[in-house]
Amino acid sequence: MNDKNQIIVWDLLVRVFHWSLVLLIFLAYVTGESKGTLHKNIGLAVLAIVVVRIIWGFCGSKYARFSDFICSPVKALVYLRELATGKPTHYTGHNPAAAWMILFLLLGSIVICLSGYVAHTNKKANHSSGIDATYSIVATAYADQEKHDKHNGKHKRRARHAEEEKEEDEGDSVWSDIHEISAQLMLILICFHILGVAASSKMHNENLMKSMLTGKKDL
Ligand code: HEM
Ligand code: HEM
Repeated sequence: MNDKNQIIVWDLLVRVFHWSLVLLIFLAYVTGESKGTLHKNIGLAVLAIVVVRIIWGFCGSKYARFSDFICSPVKALVYLRELATGKPTHYTGHNPAAAWMILFLLLGSIVICLSGYVAHTNKKANHSSGIDATYSIVATAYADQEKHDKHNGKHKRRARHAEEEKEEDEGDSVWSDIHEISAQLMLILICFHILGVAASSKMHNENLMKSMLTGKKDL
């Protein structure tokens, strides 16, 4: 099929956003267990590109705009029923079920990132208050400066050790729980998203994954 029979559906920003999101979310899962700076930065990058995509949803190209694909949930259910019966209506842009999935994926990413951020901030706050408490005990106990310095070092090491242990136990804070649960739910959404893309591609006899790479769809 020549280029005349093709139309650009997904602009460059949507495509770069999509595949960056896929890569970053994959990396966020891989680094999740480490809970370190790398994980935090990857998560913040997810949040940044999602914010850019949301802004683009108001001022981007035709098919990137929310106004082009946001629809009622009933329309999405009708599309799913059509998909199940093998005769789905064809949409050039996002189909109604994909539209709802996209909203959930964007919202899910925001919930994961914000809860991760709060969990991380709480953890940092807990650390500093723990260290402050240790210092005040040490300061009262040792008047002599030399002794104080020596013991302070020891205390610092102990405090650091205690913090490491505490860090492992802190998984039960509410925000950590929300973070981990939303990350697991996101995995389920992603599986349905990929299944939906596969089913839709098969029914309409088009390669949607290729479209998300090239931006083009056959007319
Ligand atoms: C889409 C983005 C993200 C994904 C998919 C993600 C995923 C995960 C997962 C799966 C874990 C659990 C690891 C485990 O204990 O087995 C985790 C833990 C954690 N993440 Fe994220 N994360 C994301 C973004 C962020 C951000 C933006 C931050 C902070 C700025 C963050 C901070 C944390 C922290 C502090 C923990 C440890 C929670 C705890 O157990 O107390 N994450 N993340
Ligand atoms: C981490 C995994 C993934 C996430 C979070 C994700 C997220 C998204 C989002 C947010 C969109 C909306 C794009 C936009 O308008 O900006 C989208 C659309 C799309 N994604 Fe994914 N995606 C993932 C994996 C995949 C994979 C592996 C494929 C390929 C099989 C894929 C294929 C598509 C296609 C074809 C669309 C357009 C759907 C349509 O309108 O029918 N995605 N995805």
